[in-house]
Amino acid sequence: MRQIIRPPSRLEGVITPPGDKSLSHRAVIFNALAYGSARITNYAPGEDCASTVRCLQALGVPIERDGPTTLTVHGRGGVLEEPADVLNAGNSGTTMRLLAGVLAGQPFLSLLTGDRSLRSRPMDRIIAPLREMGAEIWGRGSDRFAPLAIRGGRLRGITYTLPIASAQVKSAILLAGLFAHGETVVVEPAPSRDHTERLFQVMGVSVVRDGLTVRLMPGPLTARDISVPGDISSAAFWLVAGVCHPQARITLRGVGVNPTRTGILDALRQMGAHLEVINPREEGGEPVADITASSSTLEAVEVKGEMVPRIIDEIPVLAVAACYAHGTTVIRDAQELRVKESDRIATTVRELRRLGADIEELPDGMRIRGPVRLRGAVCRTYGDHRLAMALGIAGLLAEGETAIQGAECARVSYPSFWEHMALLTGAQRRG
Ligand code: S3P
Repeated sequence: MRQIIRPPSRLEGVITPPGDKSLSHRAVIFNALAYGSARITNYAPGEDCASTVRCLQALGVPIERDGPTTLTVHGRGGVLEEPADVLNAGNSGTTMRLLAGVLAGQPFLSLLTGDRSLRSRPMDRIIAPLREMGAEIWGRGSDRFAPLAIRGGRLRGITYTLPIASAQVKSAILLAGLFAHGETVVVEPAPSRDHTERLFQVMGVSVVRDGLTVRLMPGPLTARDISVPGDISSAAFWLVAGVCHPQARITLRGVGVNPTRTGILDALRQMGAHLEVINPREEGGEPVADITASSSTLEAVEVKGEMVPRIIDEIPVLAVAACYAHGTTVIRDAQELRVKESDRIATTVRELRRLGADIEELPDGMRIRGPVRLRGAVCRTYGDHRLAMALGIAGLLAEGETAIQGAECARVSYPSFWEHMALLTGAQRRG
């Protein structure tokens, strides 16, 4: 699909972003392992979370779809069934890595694969700790890539120091820890998103954090109804559009504002953005709020160190904001971007350059000089949903027409993204 974008004179409206992807995966996986049944509302509508549901169904978990974003999950009390076929995680790293942790604790053979992008992403980072816990697990390319073969078994708790701050790896180990003998301890180099710890706690499993150390005592999960907050990683596109466009006011309703995810709010505020966070509340152990972004004059920002895991998925769209900021924005310590759905350092730099950005690749990040006036061009997405949407926002801000080839991949996390864009630009009101 080729999406054509022209800059609107105004951007205004109220958007409810889709349910949070990270939390949706966890809500359905943890309830599938729990005792009892649970209803999950505002489940993320994208393809990634649909992959998780399909894999769990293939593992014998009864899951009913009661509506486009409502599921009922009947937990199997920790005991899954050997799947009759290969499990396919599609484009979803979270599905593959979290399920690998679960399957490490199941005494049967499972095979896990994914699309071309996922099969090129590192899996040695989960294979090593899961083996240490006692699982038999192999991967293609000397145990580095999917497809993975897992024969789970009797696991023992370990203390594992993560070489990188990764919530997916931490969660894989903690999930395996549910089935292990003894305590499981994970030490992080910097705090990564803590949805697993919060939800385990809500579902009755003891997880204690002490600085960068997380300790889990195995125990049964109890099913819990969950209303998933809106995804801040999806809201981020409209936050950037709202603060960069000269005539804009956009309100995002019901956004999850867990502090391990709000690096984008901190970065934009440091840049001088007008953001109002109102109506704070809590849903399912997670903080939620409404956020309004309006036209702002931006200064450059530096993003590095402990901030990086808190903003990792928003860096492509932050790079768009940096094009409109005064000064040189520098992003460092973000080498993890090279192993996301695409090499997001290379692809963001290449595509924003086509639009006239003054942007340069660094081994672990990028440097962007602003302000520049972007000019419409033809761009590619490399099948990467977040790059597609970041380029969509660049297209709203650029002069002239932007064409995005392969724009359909936005459906991986945000199927209504292009319709929401039409709502905010008034294209739908004008018909
Ligand atoms: C996720 C963690 C992050 C993030 C991904 C979702 C999660 O990956 O980039 O989109 O749900 O745990 P890493 O933990 O590998 O950095």
